[in-house]
Amino acid sequence: MALCMSKCCFLLLLIISYCLLQWCNTVTCDCVAPEEPIKCSSGNSNCIVTNSQGSFPDRSICRAADAVYPTTEAELISAVSAATITKRKMKVATRYSHSVPKLVCPDGEDSLIISTKKLSEVIKVDKDAKTITVQSGVTLKQLIKEAAKAKLVLPHTPYWWGLTVGGMLGTGAHGSSWWLKGSAVHDYVVDLRIISPGESKDGYYKNRTLKEGDADLDAAKVSLGVLGVISQVTFKLESMFKRSITFEAMDDDNGLGEEALNFGKKHEFGDITWYPSQHQVIYRIDDRVPSTTPGNGVNNYFPFRSTAASVLVANRKIEELAEAINYADLKCFGGNAITAALEAIAFGLTNNGNFFTGYPVIGYQNQLQSAGGCLTPGSCLLQSYCPWDPRTNGQYFFINGFSIGISKVKNFIQDIQKLVELEPKSLCGVELYNGILMRYVSASTAYLGKDEDGIDFDIVYYRSKDPLAPRMFEDILEEIEQMAVFKYNGMPHWGKNRNIAFEGAMKKYKDGEKFLDVKKRYDPLSLFSNEWTDQILGLKEGLSIYKEGCALEGLCICSEDIHCAPNKGYLCRQGRVYKEAKVCRKMKSTQEI
Ligand SMILES: *[C@@H]1O[C@H](CO)[C@@H](O)[C@H](O)[C@H]1NC(C)=O
Repeated sequence: MALCMSKCCFLLLLIISYCLLQWCNTVTCDCVAPEEPIKCSSGNSNCIVTNSQGSFPDRSICRAADAVYPTTEAELISAVSAATITKRKMKVATRYSHSVPKLVCPDGEDSLIISTKKLSEVIKVDKDAKTITVQSGVTLKQLIKEAAKAKLVLPHTPYWWGLTVGGMLGTGAHGSSWWLKGSAVHDYVVDLRIISPGESKDGYYKNRTLKEGDADLDAAKVSLGVLGVISQVTFKLESMFKRSITFEAMDDDNGLGEEALNFGKKHEFGDITWYPSQHQVIYRIDDRVPSTTPGNGVNNYFPFRSTAASVLVANRKIEELAEAINYADLKCFGGNAITAALEAIAFGLTNNGNFFTGYPVIGYQNQLQSAGGCLTPGSCLLQSYCPWDPRTNGQYFFINGFSIGISKVKNFIQDIQKLVELEPKSLCGVELYNGILMRYVSASTAYLGKDEDGIDFDIVYYRSKDPLAPRMFEDILEEIEQMAVFKYNGMPHWGKNRNIAFEGAMKKYKDGEKFLDVKKRYDPLSLFSNEWTDQILGLKEGLSIYKEGCALEGLCICSEDIHCAPNKGYLCRQGRVYKEAKVCRKMKSTQEI
């Protein structure tokens, strides 16, 4: 009863703030597409490049002298050769620039950004061989659409449409499956063309086509962009098939440690969303069904739809308020309300493209595998954006993503459960961002892909606009991060995470050295590397940045109180379950200090 009233209070507050803001809004009614990640002040020179959040983990600004937008492979080759002649540093940027860390920043005054925005053509669809060949700037949305025209599909993809082919391969993006070749897009590459720097005798570029079976393909299919620019990729597809999806909620997360492993074996496209503070688990029961099964379901995943700026601002204000007055209950009520609302609308699944009428939702793979409503400009009821669009003062968050090997998953989950037992409200904030998403990933032949089957955990949570402001339950979230990466040897997702998650990352890859050998051959002058890639590849010091408040932003693991926020009562202490962790904890009394 009390809980219900609080939930109603929260919703009422939301509605009131929404109406107030709406009142002030001059109604223009656009759904606004994401902004260009590259902005240049004079023509294509004097540029700044950012990510879709408009800010990097260390909040630095990333500059480049020039940006180029090749439309053909020949233009791409001439851009790479011209820069190689003068030994300019280069980096590749994608259409929307979704990688969180600084993979996109070219170092140095005279650096060059090569955008793949206009390398966006489908080159060939081969119906008999069941393959598609696309330029690297093609988005996942486009890839799915074009393949479907030939009644073909990529069996596994990320859930978000806005990634490009080059970006997905660059960072090892994946969906969720332990079946067959697994969920990583790079494991469906049969052929890839990459343009790298060369010597004068080759015209200062190398144009290599790598095929299945070439050892170098195992380096190039997850390359962090340091081997050169991917020009085009051929993927192995399957004939169109249908899927049946049911989200099943369980109000008990006791056996999750064991069940998580069984579930992945049972369902080809299954995943799990875990709400640890609510002790709730939602299992996505998701399997192939015969193509004769009726159903025309569509996945318009709600959190990826355009959302009214006023709602985004109101939600953010509530979150900031909860943080400011240290009111965990507000986050818990909010988390409950959001989970309940998302469940009621099946997270945006519909049975026919319009309405959700009940489970199972059955439909074609291309309509269900991925979503991203907010990418498409158009007319909306209210001025609307992607929820994380930096122009709105809406969501601003950290995103952790690591995969934990199959043999350690159970203990990791149980450790999180122990932390929740100690601090029951500590993960309510994560539930505001739809809980912990658990997806199945498989061992890959890619040198920088996963070495063993495991589960990828995505954890999203509040980030303050003020880098020196500690978060509620700062210590718990830091402990989970350190536990995942150090105690359970989790492999960080290359396109997500905060600095500390990459400490020692290369040592976890059995083929790390092989990758570095290929890098030396492909780009001996390291023109496609930057400080960040050198650091995550273990070639350069300085991944952790020690300064006041650094642990709050995951730039360091605290070793002194000053790395936390001693003036606000947050001191550097050991973890509660994982004693080796060093975390910023809010002290309740002087005794504890
Ligand atoms: C790159 O190499 C491939 C064959 O390996 C060739 O077909 C293609 O035309 C080359 N690209 C350019 C722009 O020369």
